[in-house]
Amino acid sequence: MSGRARFQGRGVVVTGGAQGIGHAIALAFADEGADVLIVDLLETGTGQTLVADLGDPDQAGGVIAEAVTRLGRVDVVVNCAGVQPDGPALGVTREEFDRAFAVNTRGPFILMQDAVRHFLNRGDGRGGSIVNIASANAIRNESPESVYNASKAALIALTTAFAHEFGHLGVRVNCVAPGETITPEAEGQMDQDDRAQLRDYLRRVPMRRPGTPAEQAAAVLFLASDEASFITGQTLVVDGGELSGDWYDSRDSPPVPDP
Ligand SMILES: NC(=O)c1ccc[n+]([C@@H]2O[C@H](COP(=O)([O-])OP(=O)(O)OC[C@H]3O[C@@H](n4cnc5c(N)ncnc54)[C@H](O)[C@@H]3O)[C@@H](O)[C@H]2O)c1
Repeated sequence: MSGRARFQGRGVVVTGGAQGIGHAIALAFADEGADVLIVDLLETGTGQTLVADLGDPDQAGGVIAEAVTRLGRVDVVVNCAGVQPDGPALGVTREEFDRAFAVNTRGPFILMQDAVRHFLNRGDGRGGSIVNIASANAIRNESPESVYNASKAALIALTTAFAHEFGHLGVRVNCVAPGETITPEAEGQMDQDDRAQLRDYLRRVPMRRPGTPAEQAAAVLFLASDEASFITGQTLVVDGGELSGDWYDSRDSPPVPDP
């Protein structure tokens, strides 16, 4: 236990919580007293899980009602489930395009609609909080990931729109935009080549290391909590400073320590 209990008695839905960043988010909420429902394609050994394909609008449309049945109430929704297609723009198929937007953009949109309806219908005037997981790529393009970047940029636009439309009703909507974050699953699959590539990548990151899922979770919990009660429509970039700039002369760039 962290010793903090910012979410005691709150119902929290975390999509994509079976592994990776979403799993760390789900654990962090549970650690602070929340009743958590994970929604994922995969079953998870931890806590309550609803298995659903959020790329299917009918399945996404059943999530909040099921969460209310299981948790009694929903106060926080975190849209973390995502797919990351890559490859040159000219090679992207229509199916790949549609799937990326279905999972990364339409699924979160449907959950936001249903969550806001629930926050308002609850009738206790407490509103609610939504945190969407976008990506630093939504803000600065990284190639070749055109469709992924666009789907996450659209998610930021939806975040701003929902924050704007529903702020007067006590609904806050924010984004966390992670930079390079190594999950346990990704770590487990890395070979020598991947490690060399990561080391090269880290030349762009002022803090000279990737982020951890727990660091992304800490940002999500802050935005979802009452500590952020006057913050809405924002995107918090958690990237070790990567978007802060480039070295004009790469020879001035500090060395990257051995991982
Ligand atoms: N890891 C990074 O460096 C990084 C950087 C920027 C943004 N992100 C974003 O953070 C989120 C989590 O990333 P991660 O690295 O932990 O990914 P991950 O692939 O390890 O986890 C994603 C989770 O989402 C679930 N999921 C995928 N499609 C789904 C669907 N259609 N329906 C239900 N669940 C589905 C998966 O089963 C998985 O449990 C993603 O939205 C990703 O785009 C990650």
